[in-house]
Amino acid sequence: MTDAVNQTTGYSSIKIETRGRVGIVTLDRPKTLNALCATLAEEVLQALKEFDNNPTIGAMILTGSEKAFAAGADIKEMAEKGFSDMFIEDYFGAWDEVPRVRKPIIAAVSGFALGGGCELAMLCDFIIAGENAKFGQPEIKLGIMPGIGGTQRLTRLVGKSLAMELILTGRMLKADEAKQAGIVARVVPDESVLDTAIEIASTIASYNLPAVLMAKEAINRAEEVGLTEGVRFERRLFQAAFATEGQKEGMAAFLEKREANFSGR
Ligand code: CAA
Repeated sequence: MTDAVNQTTGYSSIKIETRGRVGIVTLDRPKTLNALCATLAEEVLQALKEFDNNPTIGAMILTGSEKAFAAGADIKEMAEKGFSDMFIEDYFGAWDEVPRVRKPIIAAVSGFALGGGCELAMLCDFIIAGENAKFGQPEIKLGIMPGIGGTQRLTRLVGKSLAMELILTGRMLKADEAKQAGIVARVVPDESVLDTAIEIASTIASYNLPAVLMAKEAINRAEEVGLTEGVRFERRLFQAAFATEGQKEGMAAFLEKREANFSGR
């Protein structure tokens, strides 16, 4: 199915908006519960990169609709493809670029986050979920398996045992179980998911941008290297934070008992 192109943004499967220093990308394919087609992947990447390069933006939100964050990769688009198609197109390869976005991305999840939808939420830096959100990797029911990092990221988040159970059965987790398992940072009433995400993103975007970027990079490094190397990496970035205007401003504001006003440098 081809989605209509928005004449202002040029996008057909997402909407973009800004709230102060927060950039919001909304998945917008309601007829397919925001199924992740190849066009949507390209558009999400383009929008995230543009916000990342925009100096007026300090943090981003990726969200969907009330019914679905995303119900997975687009089954209709994939159904007739063979191995050569998937391999030559490097199908899903575009999603590997999400972790290269340097500013924080919050996933604001209402409704279904299934298959690629769950994987996309986990590709973001953390997840705010509505109380009726549902997470799962149901690919096994389609005769396939996760392909946007689910076997790796879910396992790192929840441990091997639960990851095995979820991926091998396709069982869905409700928001409270997803929170308990470590997939979700915070569960809030469904109607406040986006507002809560905007509030959190606005707070992050009000801080010293270089320190925010450094903290995100250091946390992500924890998944790549051993503890000694990770702490060494953190220490160098911590020391580097003292080369920023924001460190001078943040500490002066504390000592002068006033709000800090960060320049972003
Ligand atoms: N791809 C394409 N279309 C989808 C879709 C998907 N992943 N998920 C839902 N849709 C479409 C449905 O086909 C339906 O379209 P029609 O109205 O034209 O029939 C429409 O969205 C509404 O869906 P339902 O009628 O099924 O809505 P529901 O409320 O009864 O059920 C649901 C909701 C449980 C999420 C169900 O739609 C569902 O199970 N979806 C598929 C979930 C899934 O298997 N996801 C994994 C995809 S594979 C993958 O993601 C691989 C990977 O690792 C990246």
